[in-house]
Amino acid sequence: MYRWGGCSKLAELTYIGTSPPRPDGPAKASGLSQYADDVAVAGLWFGETVRSPVAHGRLRSVGWRRAAPPGAVLVTAADLPGPNGVQLIDDGWPILAEGTVEHVGQAVALVAAPSRRAAVLAAAEVEVDIEELPPVFDLSEARRQPSLYELELGLGDPEAVLDQAETVVEGEYRTGHQEHIYIECQGMTARWHPSGPRVEVSGSMQCPYYVHKSMVHAFGLPEEAVRVRADAIGGGFGGKEDYPSLIAIHAALLARAVERPVRIVYDRQQDIIGTTKRHPATMRYRSAVDAEGRLLALDVLVELDGGAFTTLSKVVLSRALLHAAGPYRCPEVRVRGRVLRTHTAPNGAFRGFGAPQVAFGIERHMDAIGRRLGIDPLTLRQRNALVPGDRLPTGQIVDESTSALACLESVARRTDFVTRWTEYQAAQTETNGTPQRGLGLSLYFHGAGFTGNGERRMNSPASARLTPEGRIAVLSAMTDMGQGAVIVFRQIAGEAAGVTFDDLEFPEPDTNEVPNSGPTVASRTTMIVGQLVARAVREVSAQVADWWGEQQPAASPYTVKDGRVVGQDGRSTPFAAVARSYLEVHDALEVTVRHQPAPGPVFDETTYQGPAYPTYAWGADIAEVEVDPDTLAVRPLRMAVAAEVGRAIHPRLCIGQIEGGTLQAVGWGLLEEIKLDQGRYLNDRLATYIIPTAMDAPDLDVELLEAAFPDGPFGAKGIGELPMDGGAPAVVAAIENATGLVVDEIPATPERLFAAQMRERSDD
Ligand code: MOS
Repeated sequence: MYRWGGCSKLAELTYIGTSPPRPDGPAKASGLSQYADDVAVAGLWFGETVRSPVAHGRLRSVGWRRAAPPGAVLVTAADLPGPNGVQLIDDGWPILAEGTVEHVGQAVALVAAPSRRAAVLAAAEVEVDIEELPPVFDLSEARRQPSLYELELGLGDPEAVLDQAETVVEGEYRTGHQEHIYIECQGMTARWHPSGPRVEVSGSMQCPYYVHKSMVHAFGLPEEAVRVRADAIGGGFGGKEDYPSLIAIHAALLARAVERPVRIVYDRQQDIIGTTKRHPATMRYRSAVDAEGRLLALDVLVELDGGAFTTLSKVVLSRALLHAAGPYRCPEVRVRGRVLRTHTAPNGAFRGFGAPQVAFGIERHMDAIGRRLGIDPLTLRQRNALVPGDRLPTGQIVDESTSALACLESVARRTDFVTRWTEYQAAQTETNGTPQRGLGLSLYFHGAGFTGNGERRMNSPASARLTPEGRIAVLSAMTDMGQGAVIVFRQIAGEAAGVTFDDLEFPEPDTNEVPNSGPTVASRTTMIVGQLVARAVREVSAQVADWWGEQQPAASPYTVKDGRVVGQDGRSTPFAAVARSYLEVHDALEVTVRHQPAPGPVFDETTYQGPAYPTYAWGADIAEVEVDPDTLAVRPLRMAVAAEVGRAIHPRLCIGQIEGGTLQAVGWGLLEEIKLDQGRYLNDRLATYIIPTAMDAPDLDVELLEAAFPDGPFGAKGIGELPMDGGAPAVVAAIENATGLVVDEIPATPERLFAAQMRERSDD
């Protein structure tokens, strides 16, 4: 179920605000789409990864246990042609273990064989000799070691205010690992050519140019010698942002060694063991508040478990700290953070990129403040919520589209929140064996696009060019991993150029064909690259129309509308026909535009002051749960969600994003847990790593709100990650409303609720 709030299709727009079918839909629904493991390649061999069985140790030797199995080939770090590092922000992540192993599942060696089965058998013939060293898993021990990264930001002097304040609230909040569970596991195929681009990789990835960069680095090749193509992608959620670079290099190493194409496709168990997860976080909040619950000062410490290597952790921490004070006004703020090193697989990109962790922290903390002062969650948030013109801890003044209060109003109205929350609270003590119900509220925001000066630095391009058939080809590196970029970009381009979908072409993301418009991450595709697409196609369309006007001056100027070039006399010609005429007298028409940050203050990366994001999307959730008093099993019944998205380009997909992200957040809050034993994941398969299915999903009632962002395409904001921020704190707050149990660590499993109950009884 969904409904519309302050949002409607504008009369003057043709495609924006409508929900046309996605062009990739039929092939995906029927199974015809070619995913990484489906693409037929002649003479293909298969690769397998030999992984470290221990968390930490000195690598004494790697080799065949006996003679090499017939036909099988082994590759170790000794065979690397260049630096042993995957180039992301830096190249500190080893391609293959060398000297030491740093986590269970780390790739130590690779084997290739003519069949998948032969490769699996060959991998079992590889002997890895490791002298074990003491590992670090525990964060209290990791704190005594050097951090992978540290960062601090803030405004004013919170310590002075906290010293003087009458009411100081303190709390510690913890979140756990989360595995992406994209439908399609990681997979990559590589081949080498005697001429042209020397090496070609294709497979499942969010960011072809990230893979390209890491391949260039690892093999020491010129950029044009490496070609990277994305196949159909069965989900990413951030898990195909960093890791595909590693597996692409692995496949290319094997392909080079056997002089044939080689494919590596992980099965689910390998995928869970080997790949990145969401960073577990420990967050300490200390706040000073006045008698009405208004924040006077906030001091926050965020610690992320980075795992064994830094990979993307610096930017994850940065985004976490920038969202740590939540969507609230607070005059004095200090936020400190560090990434701690443990002997577990590196944690990496996962939808929300550090923000969901701190959203759990600040929202649980707001509930702690309300509990202390006897103020209901809605009133407390209404008093503190940012309004246009307020200042963030970076000094950034939030813009006119700041929609926190509107989101609160939307969810509170639909749930009759305060009345029912008060009733449920009063009923907490009635433990007569029937399930207890509760409501929980969360308020959140999400900065769209790269953090800080990322977009300014990247200055990413997108292009539009006329094809010989008179269509406009739109060139960007953006991938569609299921979120719907392929249809959203058609809508944006069609609307901006005044043409129909038939007048448009979208070449597949292939580094030989498309410019580096940046990675498909950070909720940037629609908002940042969508705007580039709009500008590029608008320019092509306008140049064609202007040229036509020069040929037919009587009815000039011409405009392009609904795929026709229309003169002042009302007469029109199909755009494609005019474009073909244009190409008869011109060689080509291609326009490349680059991202231009809006004029105004620039983010300062040393002081962390200034606009860290061009704008923010806003959201609020109210969850209603039922808790079984005997088993403490929690059933999320329904959720009201409000999402302020700037402008919904494709409302159905937009709501799909909000629903899917909300459910993913509820899974993280209630069910999903990685249990570790000596650094080994105990639940390394779908039978034991539990994610919500349709049977576990609450009824989701999403209301979209729109407050246009002037620099996004037709006002759109990035919203891919937003819904990941609100679900977990809302369900945990609802558990508290139902039972009185305060849970500050997720997932809120029955075991954790039972522990909370025991604590409460011993406190009594
Ligand atoms: Mo992402 S977590 O920005 O792919």
